[in-house]
Amino acid sequence: MERITVIGAGNVGATCANVIAHKDLANEVVLVDIREGVAEGKALDIWQTAAINNFDTRVVGVTNDYLRTKGSGVVVITSGMPRKPGMSRDDLIKTNAKIIVEVTEKVVKYSPEAIIIVVSNPLDVMTYAAWKTANKPSNKVFGMAGILDTGRYTAFLAEALDVSPKDIQALLLGGHGDSMVPLRRYTSVKGIPITELLGKDEIDKIVERTRKGGGELVNLMGTSAWYAPGAAAAQMVESIVDDQKRIFPVCARLNGEYGVDDLYIGVPVKLGRNGIEEIFELNLNQAEYKLFQESADQVRSVIKVLDDMNLFGD
Ligand code: NAI
Ligand code: 2OP
Repeated sequence: MERITVIGAGNVGATCANVIAHKDLANEVVLVDIREGVAEGKALDIWQTAAINNFDTRVVGVTNDYLRTKGSGVVVITSGMPRKPGMSRDDLIKTNAKIIVEVTEKVVKYSPEAIIIVVSNPLDVMTYAAWKTANKPSNKVFGMAGILDTGRYTAFLAEALDVSPKDIQALLLGGHGDSMVPLRRYTSVKGIPITELLGKDEIDKIVERTRKGGGELVNLMGTSAWYAPGAAAAQMVESIVDDQKRIFPVCARLNGEYGVDDLYIGVPVKLGRNGIEEIFELNLNQAEYKLFQESADQVRSVIKVLDDMNLFGD
């Protein structure tokens, strides 16, 4: 791909640009921020690792110069405030919604064909805000959370079982919040269901730790995570750019699937050159379905805050 843009050169954005460059996913990565010099400096620093880490992708940083992002094939939006201790992701909504709308307008102006991946929180609602602003089909605007949350779930399981995380297959649904739904029935180790390897209490603890996984890191570091989030967004970019058609949990717009209408929330999808190429509808049991609907209700309650801001003029 010719050009990929990452908006926001903070912890997540810079990490994402770094991973994209390491994987040589484009001729050029453009990193954009509003803070003078920050994107330029981080991009230069990453670019100076090219000879050391053996990649060719040029990494360029700019301050608010969207002309330089022109014609990007994929744009990752990470701009906005991260969580501080004691804050929920939803507390961020008012500040970040305005940033997402403003940034998306500029992205679409210069890269009308771009696939947009939103990372900023509260994720499900910010993705919806970007879609409303971009005026594009929803297979081209979606959000990153499920790969990160599954990564956490997998890491905890690998520790508990003392096995390689590479051998764990796991799936997780729902919004990016404490109501997310890790699906133990769809989790296995080299095909062996985890329910045959761990007791219910142990799995319960891991599910709970996964749900609170973002908060655990905020409490440790005073800000939210970036290595896993940046790598997770880059993995989505890779599947699109290389048309890998990988299956990931992604924050996608549902239009009747899972009995949910007009809502962005995490579900398994196929990611390829055209963005979301398929949404998989799982045959959930009653308990799983109930948890998913509770998570959807939680996302809807945050959308209500967004709607009350009247950002879209409808
Ligand atoms: P950060 O504070 O390190 O970086 C955010 C950057 O956005 C800053 O450099 C800031 O100057 C920039 N920015 C603010 N307004 C801008 C604008 N209008 N245009 C361009 N840049 C602008 O924050 P961090 O840790 O990188 O997190 C970024 C966002 O991602 C936060 O909202 C955070 O909550 C979210 N996040 C989401 C995750 C997910 O799973 N979806 C995981 C981790 C973080
Ligand atoms: C995370 O899950 C805060 O959404 C961010 O790390």
